[in-house]
Amino acid sequence: MTILVTGAAGFIGANFVFDWLAQSPGGQEPILNLDKLTYAGNPETLAPLQGDSRHTFVRGDIGDTALVASLLAKHQPRAVINFAAESHVDRSIHGPEDFIQTNIVGTFRLLDAVHRYWRDLQPEEKSAFRILHVSTDEVYGSLSPDQPAFSESHRYEPNSPYSASKAASDHLVRAWHHTYGLPVLTTNCSNNYGPYHFPEKLIPLMIVNALAGKPLPVYGDGRQVRDWLYVKDHCSAIREVLLHGRVGEVYNIGGWNEKPNIEIVNTVCKLLDELRPKADGSSYNAQISYIKDRPGHDRRYAIDASKLERELGWRPSETFETGIRKTVQWYLSNPEWVARVQSGAYRDWVQTQYAAAGVDA
Ligand code: NAD
Ligand code: TYD
Repeated sequence: MTILVTGAAGFIGANFVFDWLAQSPGGQEPILNLDKLTYAGNPETLAPLQGDSRHTFVRGDIGDTALVASLLAKHQPRAVINFAAESHVDRSIHGPEDFIQTNIVGTFRLLDAVHRYWRDLQPEEKSAFRILHVSTDEVYGSLSPDQPAFSESHRYEPNSPYSASKAASDHLVRAWHHTYGLPVLTTNCSNNYGPYHFPEKLIPLMIVNALAGKPLPVYGDGRQVRDWLYVKDHCSAIREVLLHGRVGEVYNIGGWNEKPNIEIVNTVCKLLDELRPKADGSSYNAQISYIKDRPGHDRRYAIDASKLERELGWRPSETFETGIRKTVQWYLSNPEWVARVQSGAYRDWVQTQYAAAGVDA
């Protein structure tokens, strides 16, 4: 059997591939990775899997119906996991078009192609098939300090072009289940952090800027709250939901880890002070620089992940303290990965490794 995983050259998808293939005995099940390789797609991350027959990479768009249909027909996956998306809120503010195209139109086309494939499967394969859509807590909008955390029944109130486009995709997924019976699962997860995170998001940006002696830009008053989850815990939750989740259900995934941004930045600085002290003995937190707030900045996200615990017995295995230490250590140990992302050199690698090799698609 095979699973089709979209967007798996990105941060969470790539972590998911490594995590999936490391599982025993399930790790023998191959992954077909369909990724458009936008700026956020970095197949260099997956270089250790070159020559591993369990991972096939195809460069392509989830919105390319003919391509997706041909991949489904050829590889006959038993499940699809959709990570592919435009994912950065700040980019969505500056240029929402790509978000509408991939997150809404792309998800629609993927659902449409998967529906056609699923419809014609034999009864046994048809009833075992699943499509899992990976979404975000940002669809629920912003909480005030005393509101309870988001449950699965919290109403949708997206506030950014990114969260609005993800909310739309969730609604499409729901409709394809309700109308056509497609066996969908939806997960809404809080902010992830960990290895291979593109250094435009808060945590990796703070690490690489600190090490480069650059300012650490904190938006507004830095008191916005996010609920942080170590990426490997997100991957394990997705595996659980795929395996045991009830068809048509939504599962919130979170780390029970609410923290204001400034506390995150201070923690990163403190770890760097310990692991890579500055020559002059000063703290990295001297580089913190408060800047203009993000327009429409959501104040607080918090996930109530009790449904996932109650129904599937899942809980995160990392605390924030253990996860952030691993993350900082990973960035300290992988300066080449960071340098090649920042210089854009990873894009050349795409050409040499994939185009020249005549990759599957
Ligand atoms: P990312 O931006 O790092 O990766 C996205 C990947 O999707 C990239 O490899 C990109 O090339 C690919 N992609 C983009 N458009 C595509 C298209 N049209 N066709 C095929 N591939 C395409 O994002 P991420 O942080 O890994 O997030 C993955 C998923 O998880 C997204 O759906 C995101 O909304 C969701 N999510 C992310 C977080 C987080 O904290 N990062 C939290 C909750 C949910
Ligand atoms: P981000 O990593 O972009 O994730 P999201 O906006 O999806 O939650 O940002 C996390 C938080 O950190 C968010 O409140 C915005 C804030 N932030 C900064 O203060 N400075 C920065 O340079 C970035 C990228 C984010």
